[in-house]
Amino acid sequence: MAFRAKARGWLAGRWLSLSWARALGTRAAPAAKAVLPFEAIPQCPGNKWMRVLQIWKERGSENFHLEMHRTFQELGPIFRYDVGGTHMVYVMLPEDVERLQRVESPQPWRPPLDPWLAYRQHRGHRCGVFLLNGPEWRSNRLKLNPDVLSPQAMQKYIPMVDGVAREFSRALKSRVLQNARGSLTLDIQTSIFYYTIEASNLALFGERLGLLGHSPSPASLNFIRALEAMLKSTAQLMFMPRGLSRWTSTKVWKEHFESWDYIFQYANNAIQKIYQELALGRPQHYSGIVGELLMHADMTLESVRANSIDLTAGSVDTTAYPLLMTLFELARNPDVQQALRQESLVAEARIAENPQRATTELPLLQAALKETLRLYPVGISVDRQVGSDVVLQNYRIPAGTLVKVQLYSLGRNPCVFPRPERYHPQRWLDSRSSGTRSPNLAFGFGLRQCLGRRLAETEMLLLLHHVLNNFLVETLTHEDVKMIYQFILIPSTLPLLTFRAIS
Ligand code: HEM
Repeated sequence: MAFRAKARGWLAGRWLSLSWARALGTRAAPAAKAVLPFEAIPQCPGNKWMRVLQIWKERGSENFHLEMHRTFQELGPIFRYDVGGTHMVYVMLPEDVERLQRVESPQPWRPPLDPWLAYRQHRGHRCGVFLLNGPEWRSNRLKLNPDVLSPQAMQKYIPMVDGVAREFSRALKSRVLQNARGSLTLDIQTSIFYYTIEASNLALFGERLGLLGHSPSPASLNFIRALEAMLKSTAQLMFMPRGLSRWTSTKVWKEHFESWDYIFQYANNAIQKIYQELALGRPQHYSGIVGELLMHADMTLESVRANSIDLTAGSVDTTAYPLLMTLFELARNPDVQQALRQESLVAEARIAENPQRATTELPLLQAALKETLRLYPVGISVDRQVGSDVVLQNYRIPAGTLVKVQLYSLGRNPCVFPRPERYHPQRWLDSRSSGTRSPNLAFGFGLRQCLGRRLAETEMLLLLHHVLNNFLVETLTHEDVKMIYQFILIPSTLPLLTFRAIS
């Protein structure tokens, strides 16, 4: 296997021969040394404007995660990197994440993504929490958490998501059973995208779209395409100063604006419908996250709308890709799949009685999701503009510096995750029982961690639970899938998967 051979090469060579290799160990006691100034941090060679030119010429930077990974191997666990007008410090060790967390203020600052901000400013739309900072971010976030992220909110939407996951599995089974062989080989990507749209739409707006039936919906297909185009153009524009890219990348800006226009229109339709229904009378039952936000009336309608757009736009690709990568990893690791199936079969009767039990009865499956996100983090870095001076790897980082924790490299560090190339969910349970918790940072950290985390986890957990209960998943492809950076990390292509019905 190409990846395994490469990883062994690293282990035998670079990683361990580097002088800083010992520093990678999380438990090594740091020697007391004089703190070095910011300017002493190794700097990634190359010209910051040539990088912008390269991104422009190549219409993005698909191997960005690999370039950063190589730079860590060459320069050590911290380096400075500039591109265009943006100056950054990259880190990749858990101890640095701990330090960042320790100095985090009650209003953690994440620099807004300029292309997203430009769209909203230009169209006169408000921003939701993804782009806000300071007191406005905090006030929005504190009002959103109880209805989106809290365990109480999760208990309410779990049955909805479970219903959609069961229906996905039933629909797939009926397609599989149409074949005389009792198996079906397909590219499952579109079906998984439909599942995440359907499940998220129900949890957010309380409405079923009917995407799991046979006829594809043009509106949802266009929504998926608009999200893809928006993410791809984000990667092309995000490092370029606006003043420059408006001349050099007019076509990309046009694509970016058009895709956001569609996403806003799509989400606004959903919000409009639920707003009208609530205005006509209070529902008897739970009707989804946005309904709760509207009924609590502690946010303005405009703020609910802005945050609902963040939730709608953030709820599809982020969850679909880890699901696809988990299915692929299970297909090429049949032993892992069998262990997970065993757990799912034992738990099913209790989950069928009460779907909320899925969060406690499937520890190995939850570990598998962490393992997928370790290898294939959707967001390759967690970004913070530090609010006060902090010392990382013995260098002083002044307040106001943009620090990026590179999740891709952290997850593949052999001193943090032994044999990182191996898909081994059990490692998470072992590390918990031995009292050395492995860093699980795919959803970010602290007060600003992913707002949709619980919804994403629920959607992934329940879909995989029902698939494992009903199908063997197989593939002929055992090679690694090439991942590309398009603002999020996505597979360049996905192998065909075979679903074989379990009688
Ligand atoms: C596997 C799926 C997902 C992953 C890996 C993921 C990852 C992340 C990460 C790394 C952040 C930044 C956190 C930080 O700065 O500390 C984030 C923020 C955010 N995510 Fe997710 N996400 C996922 C799914 C979702 C879903 C399903 C939604 C919406 C329903 C969502 C909505 C958001 C929002 C609104 C923020 C901004 C939070 C804030 O700044 O206060 N995400 N996500």
